Amino acid sequence: MSKSTQNRRQFIKQTGKAGIAMASMPIIHTFGEFQLSQEINYIQQPLPYSYNALEPFIDAMTMEIHHTKHAAGYTKNLNDASIAEKVDIKNTSITSLLESISKYSTKMRNNAGGHYNHELFWQLMKPAPTTTPTGALADAINKNFGSLDNFKAAFSDAAKTRFGSGWAWLIVKADNSLAVCSTPNQDNPLMDIAETKGMPILGLDVWEHAYYLKYQNKRPDYINAWWNLVNWTLVENRFKEANQA
Ligand SMILES: [Fe+2]
Repeated sequence: MSKSTQNRRQFIKQTGKAGIAMASMPIIHTFGEFQLSQEINYIQQPLPYSYNALEPFIDAMTMEIHHTKHAAGYTKNLNDASIAEKVDIKNTSITSLLESISKYSTKMRNNAGGHYNHELFWQLMKPAPTTTPTGALADAINKNFGSLDNFKAAFSDAAKTRFGSGWAWLIVKADNSLAVCSTPNQDNPLMDIAETKGMPILGLDVWEHAYYLKYQNKRPDYINAWWNLVNWTLVENRFKEANQA
């Protein structure tokens, strides 16, 4: 097994449905062209591109505030809650924490979700990506939704109709089928309290903090623009790993 394959498998265990406790520190998780790491705290990674790299679809000020204020706050509050609630951080992956989130406080639920969701979200976007999925993911989308356009319509609808703040997701369910769903607040489909469970392979933040400066109340315009940023290579990799997990 190549080192990169080994690292990808480590990553999926850390962020996927087969989350496991970590035995030694630090672990560097390589996934696609990005890395996640975790040492003694849950750590926010640097943005993998510049704040203005996603323009004109997402503006630089939104990206900077979103990453340095909102997302950074989730990570800090997650670490605070983990100390207060005596989580053995060294041996508790973020995935395993999410999978047993019903045992913890609302503060833990909101901030563990917020940390995981945003760390994934930054990676799921990139400047000038390929515009469509290929290979096994493309086949699975056609099989589950009829066509890529049908899938995008279903996902966009989930994002538009999520009342208030939340996320839209493409997930791989336990039977390896694909499904679109949405979650409120900072919940996600890995959580044991989630209505629809599965491994998230694509997610879209529809909190107003993600788009209001540029799009104001026009959430559908933000969603339509965001499709130009989807890092399909990463989505394909997550799909493959989910099927192997
Ligand atoms: Fe956000």
